[in-house]
Amino acid sequence: MVSNKVEKALNEQIKIEAESSQFYLAMASWAETKGLNGTALFLYQHADEERMHMLKLVKFVNERGGHAIIPALDQPPVEFENIQNVFQNLLDHEVFVTTSINKVVDICLGEKDYPTHNFMQWYVAEQIEEEALARTMMDKINMIGTDKGGLYLFDRDLENLSATPIDAGV
Ligand code: FEO
Repeated sequence: MVSNKVEKALNEQIKIEAESSQFYLAMASWAETKGLNGTALFLYQHADEERMHMLKLVKFVNERGGHAIIPALDQPPVEFENIQNVFQNLLDHEVFVTTSINKVVDICLGEKDYPTHNFMQWYVAEQIEEEALARTMMDKINMIGTDKGGLYLFDRDLENLSATPIDAGV
């Protein structure tokens, strides 16, 4: 059974994962309209992955005797300045998600909720990977700068990378 405090923290995390999915979906749609098909594919998959992160939490809360609340979501941005801006937003957002996951872990320890603490370790590990991936993307994007040929190759690389389905662990 989860305590009220842990249940509240998990429900807040459900909202953050849902917002992440919407945010990346908005980025994917923007990229697709700019002809950045590889980038769009990568971001559509990333949005799906975030939905799985949300779903995994929903199921866990309900299994533990709580009630997972499906939240209302704000409209994400429609326009992005450029591809640099998209990946900077992605990196900043993942850093924010990591902070939020760490807060949930902290609350679990405070409440001596070891099963939820154990469950949350999957998210801790996932955030290390997601932040590293976002940083690698950002480094590449910065290296390319305004070089159109470089951008073309970056987008094509993302198309190949996204051809491998992502295991969201659900
Ligand atoms: Fe579910 Fe990318 O954090």
